[in-house]
Amino acid sequence: MDFENNFLSGGIPSSKSDLSQLTSLHLSKNNLSRELPPSMMNCTRLITLDLGENKFSGSIPKWIGENLTSLMFLILRSNMFMGNIPPQLSLLSKLQVLDLSQNNLSGKIPESFGNFSAMAIANKTKEYIFTSWRFFRLESIWVLWKGSLYEYSSTISLVININLSGNDLHGEIPKGITHLFGLQSLNLSKNHLTGIIPEDISDIRWLESLDLSWNRLSGMIPHTLSYITSLNHLNLSYNNFSGRIPSGRQLDTINNSSIYTGNPLLCGPPLLKQCPGDETDCGSQLVLGGEGVEDELVIQLLLISMAPGFVVGFWVVCGILLFKRSWRLAYYHFFDDMGNQLHVTLARKVANFKKNEG
Ligand SMILES: *[C@@H]1O[C@H](CO)[C@@H](O)[C@H](O)[C@H]1NC(C)=O
Ligand SMILES: *[C@@H]1O[C@H](CO)[C@@H](O)[C@H](O)[C@H]1NC(C)=O
Ligand SMILES: *[C@@H]1O[C@H](CO)[C@@H](O)[C@H](O)[C@H]1NC(C)=O
Ligand SMILES: *[C@@H]1O[C@H](CO)[C@@H](O)[C@H](O)[C@H]1NC(C)=O
Ligand SMILES: *[C@@H]1O[C@H](CO)[C@@H](O)[C@H](O)[C@H]1NC(C)=O
Ligand SMILES: *[C@@H]1O[C@H](CO)[C@@H](O)[C@H](O)[C@H]1NC(C)=O
Repeated sequence: MDFENNFLSGGIPSSKSDLSQLTSLHLSKNNLSRELPPSMMNCTRLITLDLGENKFSGSIPKWIGENLTSLMFLILRSNMFMGNIPPQLSLLSKLQVLDLSQNNLSGKIPESFGNFSAMAIANKTKEYIFTSWRFFRLESIWVLWKGSLYEYSSTISLVININLSGNDLHGEIPKGITHLFGLQSLNLSKNHLTGIIPEDISDIRWLESLDLSWNRLSGMIPHTLSYITSLNHLNLSYNNFSGRIPSGRQLDTINNSSIYTGNPLLCGPPLLKQCPGDETDCGSQLVLGGEGVEDELVIQLLLISMAPGFVVGFWVVCGILLFKRSWRLAYYHFFDDMGNQLHVTLARKVANFKKNEG
């Protein structure tokens, strides 16, 4: 059922008709309002529920998690939903796309968010894609991806995405979120989240896009971020992070200072602000941490200790030759003699050899 992009207004009718076979409901980009009617509880076979860009209000009902257990795509973006996010949402064991962005949701991100089991699967099997293909051929949804909205259709079954941006969420990022190994995009931007980025964030191996900008997160930026080899979009701007910006591996490929701005306590490249003790290059290498850095340090120390050795050795020999005439003469004579001797010896050997052959 697709009524996307129209001028529908009013609420969703709480009809007594049987919609229990409905698999796909698109009502996005209308002018719909009011709360979601309990009659929708009966749509237990819904795979897609897209109500984005309307004026729905009230809280997100618990029964979405408890009853609509087939849901794979839940899009409530840009509405006026308020109150807490119900922890029951994590009962949706098939959910892959959760977009609750730009509402008026408050409270904490439920700890249970680590329990979305379909998001904890890294690589879907071909079989899975094939069996669901008939459905997804006809399905399409709009997903915010690296800052722009894209329409996904037949490949939608491969997208795994959480977007809670633009709400009024408080508290910490739940640690459980790092169990969602298959997550490709996480957007928690424009909330009031506090605390740190969990160190285990690198467990989300397939993460491509992480937007935590405009929160109140603090602490050091974990260097484990550099281990996420698929990460190519990161934004940590306008928080309260402190200390040196980690570098190395994947982070060196996202070398853009705008992703760190608005964190007055951050220092080091790509920001222009130097960290304390950065004047000597050697010091900056020491604090960095991570593998490979130690090797680099050893090489640097080796070079540093070689340089004076070379200078001293060079001047001991050349300085003396330059300033002491008699030594200089002796030195050149020595090599001259050695050259002559070598030449004579060689000539003799060759002559002997020829004689023997003859
Ligand atoms: C769900 O559907 C059944 C009939 O299939 C109906 O009796 C019941 O009232 C419906 N529930 C709601 C909340 O509309
Ligand atoms: C968001 O909710 C607060 C109360 O929780 C209310 O005062 C405010 O007007 C709401 N904002 C919008 C845009 O609905
Ligand atoms: C996550 O699921 C497991 C089992 O499925 C359950 O024991 C645990 O309480 C759940 N965690 C949360 C925070 O709901
Ligand atoms: C995250 O969400 C915010 C607000 O909804 C949006 O402006 C931003 O572009 C999104 N970031 C990414 C990487 O999609
Ligand atoms: C930022 O973090 C520091 C500690 O790292 C803390 O002392 C300070 O109060 C925080 N500032 C804000 C505005 O939260
Ligand atoms: C990061 O977010 C800030 C603030 O929203 C924005 O100005 C900047 O362009 C973003 N950087 C990237 C690389 O998206």
